[in-house]
Amino acid sequence: MNHSYTNTAKILHWLMATLFIFVWCLAFYRDHFIFSPNQSSLKLNLIMLHKNIATTILFLFFIRLFWRYTHPAPKLPKTMPNIMKILAHIMHVFLYIVLLLMPLTGCLLSWSAGRTAPVLYLFDIPAFINKNTQLASILKPIHIYLSWFVGLMIVGHILTALKHHFIDKDTVMKSMLFK
Ligand code: HEM
Ligand code: HEM
Repeated sequence: MNHSYTNTAKILHWLMATLFIFVWCLAFYRDHFIFSPNQSSLKLNLIMLHKNIATTILFLFFIRLFWRYTHPAPKLPKTMPNIMKILAHIMHVFLYIVLLLMPLTGCLLSWSAGRTAPVLYLFDIPAFINKNTQLASILKPIHIYLSWFVGLMIVGHILTALKHHFIDKDTVMKSMLFK
């Protein structure tokens, strides 16, 4: 029985996890720890960095979804109660949803505010919607509150992985690690 994710799935998981945590911390730091009005150019540079990196997650998401669809996840350990297996599965589905929703709401927010959604400082994703300040004022709190909720989910995800590794000592964490 296969107890490990494929190398491609592992690379995609760790690459996207690193990008996700980086852009999350960057934007949170920018919005909550920079107050001085004479740091406005730093604020602009940080939000541009946030966007330029976060948009890559949108592209990686579709590659990962395709890979996941064509390469099923390894079986969870037999020692895990069925209810925990179901909860783990639900958590994975939610994590995939946020991997799509976070960059998507970010792009929609930027376009509705009349701004761009740039990718790696190379090109802008063509805007799917026109400038609409009313819509922007709805999307802004959605992106922000969703990011806080997602932050809690990720903490839960990481703690669960650590529990599997150090307390249950099962194969769950190893299934995502490179040998
Ligand atoms: C994985 C993707 C993303 C994550 C995890 C993420 C996370 C965050 C977080 C944590 C904040 C700060 C929330 C706060 O103020 O407490 C934020 C703000 C923001 N994000 Fe994102 N974001 C992502 C993608 C994007 C994308 C793709 C764009 C645009 C192309 C974007 C545009 C913005 C903007 C404009 C703000 C500032 C909102 C404001 O305070 O005016 N985000 N994001
Ligand atoms: C230090 C940070 C992280 C650790 C230690 C970690 C660990 C793991 C482990 C051990 C698994 C496989 C088994 C399982 O949970 O049942 C997994 C799966 C997964 N992780 Fe993470 N993770 C981290 C960060 C993240 C982040 C930031 C995201 C996305 C926002 C993420 C999204 C996912 C998804 C979607 C799966 C399911 C994979 C699949 O079945 O296709 N992880 N993670």
